[in-house]
Amino acid sequence: MLSLKFLSLCSVWLLVVLHVPSSSALWPLPASYESGEGVVWIDRNITFQYAITNHSSSALNGTSNLDIASSYAIVQAAIQRAQERLLNDTFVPWKFHPRHSDFEPPTNATKIFIKNVAIQQNETDSSAVLKPMAGEVSENYTLSISTSGNVAITAISSIGILRALDTFTQLFYQHSTNAAIYSPYAPVTIVDAPKFAHRGLNMDVARNYYPPSFIMHTIDVLAWNKFNRLHLHATDAQSWPLDIPALPELSTKGAYRKGLSYSPQQLADIQEYGMYRGVEVYIEIDMPGHTSVIALAYPELIAAYNVQPNWSTYAAEPPSGSLKLNSSGVYDFLHKLWEDLLPRVAPYSAYFHTGGDEVNQNAYNLDDTVRSNQTSVLQPLIQTLVDYNHGYVRAAGMTPMVWEEMLLNWNLTLGPDVIVQSWLSDESVAATVRKGHKVLAGNYNYWYLDCGYGAWVDPPPSATNPYYPYFDYCSPIKNWHLIYSHSPFASISTTNTSSPTYVPASSLDLILGGEVHIWSEKTDPVNFDSVVWPRAAAAAEVLWSGNQDANGRNRSLVEVGRRLGVWRERMVERGVGAGVVQMVWCTQDEGGCVADGLG
Ligand SMILES: *[C@@H]1O[C@H](CO)[C@@H](O)[C@H](O)[C@H]1NC(C)=O
Ligand SMILES: *[C@@H]1O[C@H](CO)[C@@H](O)[C@H](O)[C@H]1NC(C)=O
Ligand SMILES: *[C@@H]1O[C@H](CO)[C@@H](O)[C@H](O)[C@H]1NC(C)=O
Ligand SMILES: *[C@@H]1O[C@H](CO)[C@@H](O)[C@H](O)[C@H]1NC(C)=O
Ligand SMILES: *[C@@H]1O[C@H](CO)[C@@H](O)[C@H](O)[C@H]1NC(C)=O
Ligand SMILES: *[C@@H]1O[C@H](CO)[C@@H](O)[C@H](O)[C@H]1NC(C)=O
Ligand SMILES: *[C@@H]1O[C@H](CO)[C@@H](O)[C@H](O)[C@H]1NC(C)=O
Ligand SMILES: *[C@@H]1O[C@H](CO)[C@@H](O)[C@H](O)[C@H]1NC(C)=O
Ligand SMILES: *[C@@H]1O[C@H](CO)[C@@H](O)[C@H](O)[C@H]1NC(C)=O
Ligand SMILES: *[C@@H]1O[C@H](CO)[C@@H](O)[C@H](O)[C@H]1NC(C)=O
Ligand SMILES: *[C@@H]1O[C@H](CO)[C@@H](O)[C@H](O)[C@H]1NC(C)=O
Ligand SMILES: *[C@@H]1O[C@H](CO)[C@@H](O)[C@H](O)[C@H]1NC(C)=O
Repeated sequence: MLSLKFLSLCSVWLLVVLHVPSSSALWPLPASYESGEGVVWIDRNITFQYAITNHSSSALNGTSNLDIASSYAIVQAAIQRAQERLLNDTFVPWKFHPRHSDFEPPTNATKIFIKNVAIQQNETDSSAVLKPMAGEVSENYTLSISTSGNVAITAISSIGILRALDTFTQLFYQHSTNAAIYSPYAPVTIVDAPKFAHRGLNMDVARNYYPPSFIMHTIDVLAWNKFNRLHLHATDAQSWPLDIPALPELSTKGAYRKGLSYSPQQLADIQEYGMYRGVEVYIEIDMPGHTSVIALAYPELIAAYNVQPNWSTYAAEPPSGSLKLNSSGVYDFLHKLWEDLLPRVAPYSAYFHTGGDEVNQNAYNLDDTVRSNQTSVLQPLIQTLVDYNHGYVRAAGMTPMVWEEMLLNWNLTLGPDVIVQSWLSDESVAATVRKGHKVLAGNYNYWYLDCGYGAWVDPPPSATNPYYPYFDYCSPIKNWHLIYSHSPFASISTTNTSSPTYVPASSLDLILGGEVHIWSEKTDPVNFDSVVWPRAAAAAEVLWSGNQDANGRNRSLVEVGRRLGVWRERMVERGVGAGVVQMVWCTQDEGGCVADGLG
């Protein structure tokens, strides 16, 4: 009897879990999450109280280390957003319940209201809070909602409070009959902390232009997904959309057209917008490759500019062109560039990325200051260039970043502070760590969101379908399942010393996290949201929560997919043009859309 009852309880429980998984509200999944089935409603006059342990309220303003913002102001703004978000969100989750089912709580029952949210910060913020290095400021938080409607948030830093508030808003839905806002999950107990300290999106704003308002919109979505870095790949071969007042012609000649460049004020506004949302915006100026556009303003600084035809001998993309490597003019230019740009961005970012990917050696056959493509000639020149740049970055109080080729192909000697961004393979993540450097993962076979939309170069007129079927170099598209399957630790081995992905266990903490990438050859503000979201959210969960459960097993993609579907609907409701995860028939569970293994 007992065991039968137990069994039937189990199957009921299983059915309930299949139909309405109680975690379905949250993305990314918290480290620890418990919930019930009690209903609590939002009082439209909900208030938030913010206090810091052992400090009088005036101390809340004592954590400002800048003229720009105080952490007190940042938390107040986050509270304001959470409050509006709760009342503005009109998300009715009908797509995730059986067709014609009555899944909403009755509106005529006695209601329990949430009237107040008590926020307790356990420690005063350090001065690093506004532009932390990876891991420097805790993002941990706890969140509880009792069945009687008491809500308590605790966090160690103000950034933890921002993360908690974003989680809080995800627990509520709008009721379809009276527009009231409720959560069906009380009591809720969440204890949360990120798995990786660096969780970023690399956004290319040079191949196509994005207005500042669009970048800010993207920062909103990043913050909701608990990303904490936006890497702006600010310049490339094709356009220079960044105003440098000391070198004005860079953007007046190098932007795609007048007005399509970021003024110092606009750049500061973007970075400040990120600071207010716990998303540190840092800048990359890629070099010595990917710099052809500089030739429009300063032709004497660029070798092999726009060679046609046969551009591919000199660059990965047209127009070809590389910063000359042995030219005093280049160093004068860089001095002016860094003196202008670095002090402007340093108040908002701990990092500055000096690029270094895809250096084409043949371009230097055409460099009148070098006239060689020999590795032995070029390597010391590139070392000098990178040392020069990194000296300026450090002097401005920032930590340099480079693409992996600088360390792994050119074997440069880099300072121990330098963070290496990997994109080519898991082996290169491991090799970077074995060389003692901090690394960001982001293998293009998994985390390039631009892959799979087809080649953007046309076949030459003389050719008959030479590139048929017109795939791009990293086809096929990386769907969310594939993105989710990858993690910075994906194929790292801490035991097999002869494996190319071997990393000593004691060095694992050099893997700071990673970035997903959106290169913009075929992306602009029109399709960006549907290309990036919700796939980037899959990486966000891997970076915040990992892709395995507490027992080290890969999470069920059935559960993850359903939750991602809910999150996609919530993002759409918030104005994000995110792509579809599954058709409604699947999410309403009319048979399920799980492969049966036969096809
Ligand atoms: C909210 O506040 C307004 C103005 O103070 C008041 O008129 C209203 O009754 C309050 N609503 C609730 C649900 O307490
Ligand atoms: C706060 O004050 C209490 C009582 O004085 C003390 O026990 C506790 O350690 C203090 N906490 C912090 C974070 O300073
Ligand atoms: C903190 O500063 C803000 C803006 O300067 C001010 O509005 C607020 O009253 C101050 N708060 C405290 C607790 O002193
Ligand atoms: C909430 O809606 C109001 C009015 O439509 C709008 O002004 C405000 O920006 C919205 N807030 C958020 C956080 O979307
Ligand atoms: C609420 O309405 C439903 C359906 O109209 C009814 O069955 C139920 O008894 C009502 N409950 C209360 C507490 O009035
Ligand atoms: C803050 O302190 C309280 C009381 O000691 C504790 O329960 C809570 O877990 C702490 N919060 C975090 C995020 O560490
Ligand atoms: C944050 O939470 C993680 C995971 O529970 C824990 O290892 C870490 O010590 C916490 N950080 C702080 C500053 O308490
Ligand atoms: C381009 O490359 C092709 C193939 O190597 C060669 O035959 C041709 O002469 C090259 N054209 C120029 C202008 O260098
Ligand atoms: C760099 O230029 C200087 C003269 O400006 C020349 O002496 C030197 O040989 C050049 N180095 C290389 C590697 O070409
Ligand atoms: C260097 O240039 C020569 C002449 O163009 C070419 O044959 C050779 O393949 C090039 N080497 C590299 C490493 O690109
Ligand atoms: C860098 O080291 C690798 C591995 O030892 C080697 O294959 C490569 O040729 C070296 N590159 C340079 C520029 O020395
Ligand atoms: C260790 O790695 C090497 C190289 O990849 C491989 O050949 C070998 O099978 C691995 N050993 C084990 C025990 O997995």
